Amino acid sequence: MSWRTWREAMTDALYGPAGFYRTAAPVDHFRTSVHISSAFARGVLQLARLTGLRTIVDLGAGRGELLESLAALDSELTLVAVEIRERPLELSERIEWVPTMPTAIQAMVVANEWLDNVPLDVVENGRLVEVSHRGVERPGAEPSLRDNVWLAEWGGVEVGHPRDEAWESVVGRLERGVAVAIDYGHVRAARPKEPTLAAYRDGRMVSPVPDGSCDLTAWVAMDAVAAAGVRAGATRTLLTTQREALTALGLDGGRPPLELATADPAAYLKALARAGEVGTLLDPNGLGGFSWLVQAKGIELPVELG
Ligand SMILES: C[S@@+](CC[C@H](N)C(=O)[O-])C[C@H]1O[C@@H](n2cnc3c(N)ncnc32)[C@H](O)[C@@H]1O
Repeated sequence: MSWRTWREAMTDALYGPAGFYRTAAPVDHFRTSVHISSAFARGVLQLARLTGLRTIVDLGAGRGELLESLAALDSELTLVAVEIRERPLELSERIEWVPTMPTAIQAMVVANEWLDNVPLDVVENGRLVEVSHRGVERPGAEPSLRDNVWLAEWGGVEVGHPRDEAWESVVGRLERGVAVAIDYGHVRAARPKEPTLAAYRDGRMVSPVPDGSCDLTAWVAMDAVAAAGVRAGATRTLLTTQREALTALGLDGGRPPLELATADPAAYLKALARAGEVGTLLDPNGLGGFSWLVQAKGIELPVELG
């Protein structure tokens, strides 16, 4: 049996030649905000408009769902998907599809549920956790000095510096613009003392086995990532929740007026369904509780965001 640290095992299981993300479409295994409702895209578009940015880069674009919604909402935007998967055959022609983040861009970058898939190590009882191909764990070597420095500064048991580096690289590639990381996250004061590493397959949570058969994910240390963005030149930073951000960007989960039910039953049902979707995006115990890290470089953040 070969043993690897979780970071090594996760890298191979997600992005190696037979890795989960080489073949699997995220939507077949779990649903993110972009699948719930095009209202999410409306919020993203509003942020782009308020900042005057006309290029939107979707980092870790999945099957391009967010960009398709944006394409339907605004015919003038430049839309770029950054994704290691193959370009979907049915994708609109106007969406550019590239495997790596472009450099020196003036754009709004959106990374929805991307950072949680950046592989990282887990430390328990002062040892790196090692894992077999079948998901059996054992204590491994001592963490590196770098790991220990990170854990001392940010706390928890999952060593987040690979996420910090990933985000530093994203903000570093912005010449001028806004980068938004949206994810399930925590900050130091509430950092869990147990690992959050989890796995999903076919819409269900399964036990984490690094064999390429499932998504492997762990919560994101959003405050550490924010600090990395500042190191990469972010001049403004806002860390808030999806509920706060999308509400500030104009989403309203209120039910339609009852009179509409008699005046125009079809419109009422449509509006009711839409309100339900927005409610799901704003649910404080679900997607609404996700973190939004919004960082600007060389421009101001809109006052509407607070
Ligand atoms: C959890 S999915 C999220 C997909 C989409 N953003 C959504 O909200 O549904 C993460 C996606 O990021 C992609 N990905 C991960 N690392 C990447 C990288 N370094 N460059 C480009 N795409 C990446 C994966 O292939 C996967 O499609």
